[in-house]
Amino acid sequence: MMHKDCERIMLTEEQLRSRVKEIALEVDERYQGKRPLVVGILKGSIIFYSDFIRHLTCPVELDFMAVSSYGSGAVSSGKLNIKKDLDRDVKGRDVIIVEDIIDSGFTLANLKALLLERGAASVIIVTLLNKAERREYDIAPDYNCFDIENEFVIGYGLDYNEMYRSLPYIGILKRSIYEK
Ligand code: IMP
Ligand code: MG
Repeated sequence: MMHKDCERIMLTEEQLRSRVKEIALEVDERYQGKRPLVVGILKGSIIFYSDFIRHLTCPVELDFMAVSSYGSGAVSSGKLNIKKDLDRDVKGRDVIIVEDIIDSGFTLANLKALLLERGAASVIIVTLLNKAERREYDIAPDYNCFDIENEFVIGYGLDYNEMYRSLPYIGILKRSIYEK
């Protein structure tokens, strides 16, 4: 049953399951013999993150960050606001950033730069969704599950005003919900 606030389902549970596995296995191959630090960006990535890491066979350490950009929607708002920082030191570590969606690219461009500045040996970006059309910053995911159109999506961790994160699929939010 689709949530009443959804326009339509964009990605079903089955599509998510098979594509996330496919991407995770590619990443896993690259990290054989290594012990990456897998950094989930709270809160949107949590479901993707938990499905992703369960396909990894290399030993991993898990960590999380919560960030926000000042004045969302504003033009080049400047700095990334770190609401929760990592527990682990990234110096010398191979870092895998796991994020729900790359939109303007502001968040990931800044995060990647920050972790490299802190001395990470390597940083790659793994995203569930990519809205390439919206990109404003020079950054691209190393691995991405789905390229999507410029629509506001919810579910599988993604929210609108903190709602809909627990939906098991990705749905397009009805315009009437955010235009009222
Ligand atoms: P960026 O910094 O502009 O790339 O924005 C990335 C962040 O914007 C994501 O982590 C999401 O929190 C949020 N975001 C962008 N598009 C959507 C969407 O369609 N649904 C829910 N959140 C979104
Ligand atoms: Mg987010």
